[in-house]
Amino acid sequence: MTEAADLLDPAERLDLEGLRALQLERLRSSLRHAYDHVPFYRESFDKAGVHPDDCRSLSDLSRFPFTTKADLRENYPYGMFAVGRDRIRRLHASSGTTGRPTVVGYTEGDLSMWADMVARSIRAAGGRPGDTAHVAYGYGLFTGGLGAHYGAERLGCTVIPASGGMTSRQVTLIQDLKPEIIMVTPSYMLTLLDEFERQGVDPRSTSLRVGIFGAEPWTERMRQEIEERFAIDAVDIYGLSEVIGPGVAQECVETKDGLHIWEDHFYPEVIDPFTGEVLPEGDRGELVFTSLTKEAMPVVRYRTRDLTRLLPGTARVFRRMEKVTGRSDDMVILRGVNLFPTQIEEIVLRTPGVAPHFQLRLTTEGRMDSLTVRAEARPGTDATVRDVAARSIVAAVKDGIGVSVDVEIVDPETLERSVGKIRRIVDLREKRD
Ligand code: DLL
Repeated sequence: MTEAADLLDPAERLDLEGLRALQLERLRSSLRHAYDHVPFYRESFDKAGVHPDDCRSLSDLSRFPFTTKADLRENYPYGMFAVGRDRIRRLHASSGTTGRPTVVGYTEGDLSMWADMVARSIRAAGGRPGDTAHVAYGYGLFTGGLGAHYGAERLGCTVIPASGGMTSRQVTLIQDLKPEIIMVTPSYMLTLLDEFERQGVDPRSTSLRVGIFGAEPWTERMRQEIEERFAIDAVDIYGLSEVIGPGVAQECVETKDGLHIWEDHFYPEVIDPFTGEVLPEGDRGELVFTSLTKEAMPVVRYRTRDLTRLLPGTARVFRRMEKVTGRSDDMVILRGVNLFPTQIEEIVLRTPGVAPHFQLRLTTEGRMDSLTVRAEARPGTDATVRDVAARSIVAAVKDGIGVSVDVEIVDPETLERSVGKIRRIVDLREKRD
């Protein structure tokens, strides 16, 4: 066995057959736990005419009803909990952009499993016990900061609990405390990049070796940009509060070929978002998760709204999910054409003279929706280069996505910077009823 294989958890060393057997056993007990302890699940299973005992194989899961964000909202705050309040050790809330937040709860066992999954993620990203991890995800109700924090401690790292914001101090901390690992949203990493440059520090000269980026969609182009500018490995971490937080899936540094889902705890399916039908491996659709071991708040077929596809395992036995291209909620429908901010990111980042900062502004012109891509010029870019850049973005969007947009190249440092999850879309459209 190689040295790297020695580091793996027992579940990471299972073969496919062993993994499927473990999943089935856990799935049956998780469905029973949900049915016995959460009135919402009892009602929804009964209504669908299914019982936990009907789950005899993993494919039987498709007979069970979905759970949506609206279901969680309707049961706000504690209706989805499957254990007494005295067993809840922590609460987090999801960063819902609209309506009520959703509250999630964790038992001591859940917190420990979560720390194990984040530790496993950091290790897959190339982190090792003894490394120092700078955590610049926000601490608080958001799961990013505390989730990363306890996972890094569990792995045996020293943690710098920087949280988000106070950007100039972040640079000082990185310079002085010399972390090998940084955990932060990709958009805030770009804000840090500007700050390094503003302070005259070469971002390639730091102690950082690996960046673990997630909480928002980001593209291969963004990976290239960050890897080159910081001289680090940039890998993707995925998760959502309703399922646990960060550490549901993680890209392995040795392959960088999509994210291995830690499916000994979180069972994935990809469905057709319109019909709800389970799609075969390799087809794109909406990602759905069923928790296999959660105690406080089991989720059964939770619809994430994230669009991706499942692929077979490579560096690990677990299936991979392709980088999330976007949430169905972020999709802009512009004159009948579907468009995701990540498609614009790919184009902006390959355009000479343009910085990796952009915003999508939606307005109403006459009776039509119109989209303006506002992208920042790189410092020192003259008017001619800006003009060429604008025209080439217009052409690339027309050719690649099939819709006409306006492009404005704005001065350096004029667009709002991220301190956490970035908001790409500014919707100024007139509301029609
Ligand atoms: O964002 C958990 C997290 C924290 C993940 C830190 C990774 C790192 P929520 O606030 O509940 O939880 O938001 C979950 O964020 O459904 C996706 O739409 C999006 N998201 C999370 N990670 C990724 C990623 C955290 N790697 C929602 N790529 C999810 C694309 C992501 N989107």
